[in-house]
Amino acid sequence: MKRYKIAVIAGDGIGPEVTREELKVLNAAAELDGGFAFDFTEYPWGCEYYLQTGRMMPEDGMEILKQYDAILLGAVGSPGVPDHVSLRELLLRIRRDFDEYINLRPVKLLKGANCPLKYAKPEEIDMIFIRENSEGEYSGQGAWLYPGTPREIVIQDSVFSRAGCERVIRYAYELARKEKKTLTSVSKANALNYSMVFWDRIFAEIGREYPDVKTDSLLVDAASMFMVKNPKRFQIVVTSNLFGDILTDLGAAIAGGMGLAAGANLNPEREFPSMFEPIHGSAPDIAGQGIANPLAAVWSASQLLDFLGYESWGRKIIAAIEKLLTRGEFLTPDQGGTAKTSECGDALISLLKA
Ligand code: NAD
Ligand code: IPM
Ligand code: MN
Repeated sequence: MKRYKIAVIAGDGIGPEVTREELKVLNAAAELDGGFAFDFTEYPWGCEYYLQTGRMMPEDGMEILKQYDAILLGAVGSPGVPDHVSLRELLLRIRRDFDEYINLRPVKLLKGANCPLKYAKPEEIDMIFIRENSEGEYSGQGAWLYPGTPREIVIQDSVFSRAGCERVIRYAYELARKEKKTLTSVSKANALNYSMVFWDRIFAEIGREYPDVKTDSLLVDAASMFMVKNPKRFQIVVTSNLFGDILTDLGAAIAGGMGLAAGANLNPEREFPSMFEPIHGSAPDIAGQGIANPLAAVWSASQLLDFLGYESWGRKIIAAIEKLLTRGEFLTPDQGGTAKTSECGDALISLLKA
């Protein structure tokens, strides 16, 4: 029996509510399979912890996490703690310090999911976003000069390294080759005359090694428009950290909503643990009511199973989500249902067992 050590940071708001269902689903898959099992260790890190200790995680938090095979994260952020503190010191710190440079976010319209686009068929929205996840606009570098004076200046630096661009773009080309899909790069070189010119150049350079991969290169403004007007144009998409953040919320909106959007933060070399999470936040507007949709977190559990080599379980979980959506019972309010978070999780497990 293979056992996996998984660190769980359920975090804030609806984070613990959706993570509970995610763990239930993972345990159910392990039991049904019989060949693997999970040892989950939960860490109470997040905004409550910050208010008590002044830190989002203990000083040796990264050392602790390093021992695990993977990390599951719920959500981080609370109205009582500034977002730039809570997110930079926990979620973004883990992504960066564990060199999880690939943020892999499926934008796939499952059968039965709500789509606000009048003309889109499920099979027409089927993309995988590869978002650069370690540098770019999220470098966290900059300066704040003369604060509070009329001369006040802030500088927010973007950092695009050759190594950083090459590795994420190469990962995307490899995936496109493997899956025989087209690859679209999204950038903005008409306005960002250093970073995005560099990005485009590297995209073209690496492309010469992949003559079999059909590519497209779009400006981010046009890409946003095409995602709504003609989503079938996109298969694999590679883009920078900030553009990927924004476009995947748009992707979530056209593929069933934030309650269905998941993401994997991967360190492909497996030198450090990778981290799996729903892409939504702590949703303070619905936290504590037991009505959050757990399916995004459950989808991220399927990404964990893929990552550990149990792709057939990954697929079974997605199939169970699709069945749940098609049947329409046991859905949470964001999907037009009246079920509680736990009822939705339980129904999914029944489908998995069926
Ligand atoms: P959000 O994703 O928390 O919520 C946006 C909207 O989507 C809200 O109306 C919310 O109710 C709804 N929603 C989100 N997840 C849902 C779910 N599972 N089921 C049903 N409805 C859901 O984004 P926000 O309001 O911009 O941010 C709230 C806090 O979360 C902020 O502190 C923000 O910084 C943080 N945040 C954290 C993460 C993360 O931890 N990965 C991601 C995004 C935002
Ligand atoms: C996401 C989130 C984070 C990001 C925030 C909370 C820092 O929006 O995972 O999409 O911007 O990456
Ligand atoms: Mn986001």
